[in-house]
Amino acid sequence: MPKIAIILGSTRPGRNGAAVAQWVFDIARRRTDAEYELVDIDDYRLPLLDEAVPPSLGQYAQPHTRTWAEKIASFDGYVFITPEYNHSTSGALKNAIDFLYAEWNNKAAGFVGYGSAGGTRAVEHLRLVMAELQVADVRAQVALSLFTDFENFSTFTPAEHQTEAVNTLLDQVVSWSTALATVRAA
Ligand SMILES: Cc1cc2nc3c(=O)[nH]c(=O)nc-3n(C[C@H](O)[C@H](O)[C@H](O)COP(=O)(O)O)c2cc1C
Repeated sequence: MPKIAIILGSTRPGRNGAAVAQWVFDIARRRTDAEYELVDIDDYRLPLLDEAVPPSLGQYAQPHTRTWAEKIASFDGYVFITPEYNHSTSGALKNAIDFLYAEWNNKAAGFVGYGSAGGTRAVEHLRLVMAELQVADVRAQVALSLFTDFENFSTFTPAEHQTEAVNTLLDQVVSWSTALATVRAA
């Protein structure tokens, strides 16, 4: 059974991302097609990238990099929960992604964005990043609006149809994660 990480990509005190990630995880764990785990990048206390050697060479020197690498390597696919900051993803998530390379390769990913325009611009940027990391990004996407899926831009009250959107996203992430296992095995 594939292992899928739901990666919480914001670290701001009072972040909306915590409620979004928990909601996605609660939907996911009712399913029986994969093993899901919530991964909060804030728990890994990653500094700004402090590895001397580019991650693609896989020579990690710092203990925090090794801990993060071990966690990310343990999954077959990912669901990134991303805020939109200045029309992109958070600096914290981009930094956490940049720390590693091989651990991401030949895996699948889907995105849950949130912001005034559903976090769509953040997700578009992440899709470009995924290509460089050899991650297959699925088409289905969850776009949560600060206007209609939150009250006062801070209390998460997702519209009913968003649950189906999460399940469609998970269907595609599980499918591609499973398929890519053959590439990783080769
Ligand atoms: C630094 C910063 C920049 C932001 N820029 C955008 C933006 O470009 N577009 C947008 O829709 N929302 C923007 N927002 C609003 C965030 O999407 C919203 O505050 C969201 O809740 C942030 O996620 P978080 O609460 O998990 O940190 C910005 C918020 C911050 C803190």
